[in-house]
Amino acid sequence: MTQQVFYDAPMRRALELSERGQVTGGNPQVGCVLLDDTGRIVAEGWHRGAGTPHAEVDALSHLTDARGLTAVVTLEPCNHTGRTGPCSEALIAAGITRVVYAVSDPGRESAGGAERLRAAGVEVIPGVLATDVEQLLHIWLTAVARRRPWVTVKWASTLDGRAAASDGTSQWITGTAARQRVHEQRAASDAILVGTGTVYADDPQLTVRGDAGELLRHQHQPVPVVVGERPLPADAALRRHPAGVIETGTRDLGRVLADLDARGIRRVYVEGGPTLASAVVAAGLADEYAIYLAPALLGGEKLAIGDLGIRTIADARRLHIVSVEQLGEDLLVIARPTRTPENRGV
Ligand SMILES: NC(=O)c1ccc[n+]([C@@H]2O[C@H](COP(=O)([O-])OP(=O)(O)OC[C@H]3O[C@@H](n4cnc5c(N)ncnc54)[C@H](OP(=O)(O)O)[C@@H]3O)[C@@H](O)[C@H]2O)c1
Repeated sequence: MTQQVFYDAPMRRALELSERGQVTGGNPQVGCVLLDDTGRIVAEGWHRGAGTPHAEVDALSHLTDARGLTAVVTLEPCNHTGRTGPCSEALIAAGITRVVYAVSDPGRESAGGAERLRAAGVEVIPGVLATDVEQLLHIWLTAVARRRPWVTVKWASTLDGRAAASDGTSQWITGTAARQRVHEQRAASDAILVGTGTVYADDPQLTVRGDAGELLRHQHQPVPVVVGERPLPADAALRRHPAGVIETGTRDLGRVLADLDARGIRRVYVEGGPTLASAVVAAGLADEYAIYLAPALLGGEKLAIGDLGIRTIADARRLHIVSVEQLGEDLLVIARPTRTPENRGV
């Protein structure tokens, strides 16, 4: 049995533990187990979110003496002092003699933990169950490596692709089950992007609410971000949002996303309307689509997506379907860009 395979089972446990962590808040989900020299798990830990102990430190906190143990952790131990100290130093100080991890840390500031551990004489084994862990951390890893948040574009439309009626009304195209799913998707995001057009037309709350429309106070509330040059009206409902509101005052999507990245925002949910959604798609910034389709027809000009600058079918933005689900009478289609040389992930 190779050393790598020997650590598969404890890494699987570390992966399970990592899933208890939260997907929002900027930090990755990380799990850690500590093994004695027979391979028995003697302590477990996971990261509960930004500002709380990292998984390695959480696992170490359960023991008074960790000398000679092996740490199995889903992400390379960090090497930087942020809101908490570097995990590489904590492992060295605790006398850990071997560190096994799955995926390297892509962060410019936090990477370098493996090197630091080796320099202190700790044996380091990288890459154990890397594919499984990468799958769980795909969105976070992509956002950190690219230095911009992962962008999901959501819209609700009729089967003929209309997002509003000719008088501008669009509440509600879909039924209760679909709208409830939107609230779940909001809760799994760090920020919600909305154009000034929707703010002026609908005065949305953009909060995470329950079945009866009640605010879910114990649920994570992503911050709403208003994109566009017009000011937010003084009496806008967004001014009462529990997470506050970010007014960008610009249409420059690159600048908006760079600013959100600097705030530690990794997951953005774009709730439209059609002008903003189209601009995001046209700029090649959409990583995922959440399209709610209602069995209704509206006809007319209020399309869910406007002009993308595509003149011929060969230039169509090709997507692949990740899932299709029926929610009450409606359908939810999740799709992602097909990555080909002609369609560079757009
Ligand atoms: N069915 C759905 O899923 C859904 C969702 C949301 C809204 N809606 C409906 O959509 C309608 C509003 O549509 P809309 O297209 O006006 O809303 P929008 O996309 O929310 O807002 C458009 C405005 O955003 C600003 N903007 C921000 N970034 C921009 C960019 N990169 N390029 C161009 N403009 C940018 C511009 O205003 P500035 O002059 O301020 O820069 C623009 O006029 C309403 O009827 C609403 O009910 C439907």
